Amino acid sequence: MDLIYEGKAKKLFTTENPSELRMVFKDDATAFNGEKKASFADKGRLNKQLSLHLYELLEREGVATHFVRDDGPESLIVRRVEIVAIEVVIRNLIAGSLKKRTGLPEGQRLRQPLIECYYKSDALGDPLINDEHIRELNLARGDELEKIKRSALKVNRILTIFFAKAGLTLVDFKLEYGRLFPDKHNIVLADEVSPDTCRLWDTETGKKLDKDRFRQDLGDVMEGYSEVLTRVQNVLNTPS
Ligand code: TMP
Ligand code: ASP
Repeated sequence: MDLIYEGKAKKLFTTENPSELRMVFKDDATAFNGEKKASFADKGRLNKQLSLHLYELLEREGVATHFVRDDGPESLIVRRVEIVAIEVVIRNLIAGSLKKRTGLPEGQRLRQPLIECYYKSDALGDPLINDEHIRELNLARGDELEKIKRSALKVNRILTIFFAKAGLTLVDFKLEYGRLFPDKHNIVLADEVSPDTCRLWDTETGKKLDKDRFRQDLGDVMEGYSEVLTRVQNVLNTPS
């Protein structure tokens, strides 16, 4: 079927069903707004598998997502959405750009989960924006933004508890939301949830097991992703 979108880490294809797309996870990785590029054998499969497990978990817990079904090693079938041009970042511990912006030490726990919005624009380098910028740029209506934030905090609660069972600390993560075709009234969680978009540290040792291994040249990037997948599968296979 037709390729309708190619991003840095994923491709979207049409399917026989006009309201569904095939999302294919690529082995390519980029960082720093595409300045740094590499390809990692098996990344597409690992991220697909992790996104699948996490989307199934979120759906079970009542989060509305674009997920429809599994579709082979590197792809998922998802509902077609119009992506809201906001990257929503939720943080539990200081790391990354928040460390730079505040000067606080990496790993310090935040008093409460912190929400940030970034304008999804490669040309502008995804700048941090506030609710007033969102209103002025008409990126989302007030009620949509409220829904998005409420959902993102719920995702944080669910994933924090789940990853803790896997011995992993959910430091921060990025989410994207979309308006469901064709009427665009409903907002659902879209894009992916994987070590490309989450910071995950081993709770015991603090070892980084996510894309920071690539961003910071720590080596063994796919070993980190694969460790996350193994632990997630162990939790899912353990009767609760
Ligand atoms: P940051 O500390 O670099 O702002 O990143 C915060 C979180 O968002 C981190 O888990 C990585 C994720 N992220 C993305 O998924 N895509 C991006 O383009 C950026 C900048 C961050
Ligand atoms: N994915 C982003 C990019 O390449 C950045 C990142 O995740 O650090 O621009």
